[in-house]
Amino acid sequence: MANSQGAVELAAVTKSFAGSRRAPGGYCALEGVNLSIRGGEFFCLLGPSGCGKTTLLNLGAGFEAATSGRVSVVGRPVTAPGPDRGVIFQTDRALFDWLTVAENIAFGPSVRGLPEGERRQRVEEYLQLVGLTDHRSKLPRELSGGMKQRTQIARVLANEPEILLMDEPFAALDAYTRSHMQREIARIWQATGKTILFVTHDIAEALWLADRIGIMSRGPGSRVERIIEVPLPRPRAKMTEDFISIFNELSELIDAAAKTDATD
Ligand SMILES: Nc1ncnc2c1ncn2[C@@H]1O[C@H](COP(=O)(O)OP(=O)(O)OP(=O)(O)O)[C@@H](O)[C@H]1O
Ligand SMILES: [Mg+2]
Repeated sequence: MANSQGAVELAAVTKSFAGSRRAPGGYCALEGVNLSIRGGEFFCLLGPSGCGKTTLLNLGAGFEAATSGRVSVVGRPVTAPGPDRGVIFQTDRALFDWLTVAENIAFGPSVRGLPEGERRQRVEEYLQLVGLTDHRSKLPRELSGGMKQRTQIARVLANEPEILLMDEPFAALDAYTRSHMQREIARIWQATGKTILFVTHDIAEALWLADRIGIMSRGPGSRVERIIEVPLPRPRAKMTEDFISIFNELSELIDAAAKTDATD
């Protein structure tokens, strides 16, 4: 599925936050990060809380600018958010609560002036892709957590971005819904061939979803310490011997990365 073009590239990227009155001196979240995500790849970023996963994703999304170094998407330097990147957040607050599921999905194409016929067709296509055709007229408050996340995914996909940036999108869901959503996103990824950068704390989630997993060190000055290629064939099962043995290896690597001092 993956091709050789770098879909998301970070080269020698450092991100420092300026100090404030309460926290003078500032904070260097990322230092010298190099990362190249392949086109069509499912890439998961794993690391302890506060290590800079969201910061890295925000740089790719163009919500934040790097202090130094280069961030590019499919060869283009990132200077601002753009329709080539769709961002899916952990919470469902990203939905417009006064619009129905179908209207939420239609929002992006409508703002971008897609003709009515095409827009309708696109909404139908993505409603179907995320399995919400029968719930199209509900408002966000009438949806379950998993349905809200599926609406968010469909709304982002309706803008047809090349790249999906997902920041712990299933973290707030119960275990059953979460596992269902993992299967859904794997299916959607396979059906659409998108490049996905997916941030998570959850080792099993990363191992079940990813082509490759990047392990981040603890901050300040975090970087992507190791990249592991996941050798498991798809579709994957979580309780196999191979899965458990790689899970254990990853846990050890994460523990080691968490102990790594960025000045090593
Ligand atoms: N706007 C900001 N100003 C100052 N410091 C910030 C800012 N945003 C993030 N940080 C700091 O940068 C570090 C990395 O934060 P980030 O949110 O990227 O972590 P994370 O890996 O996503 O954590 P979590 O898993 O808990 O979501 C933290 O120490 C955080 O306090
Ligand atoms: Mg985060």
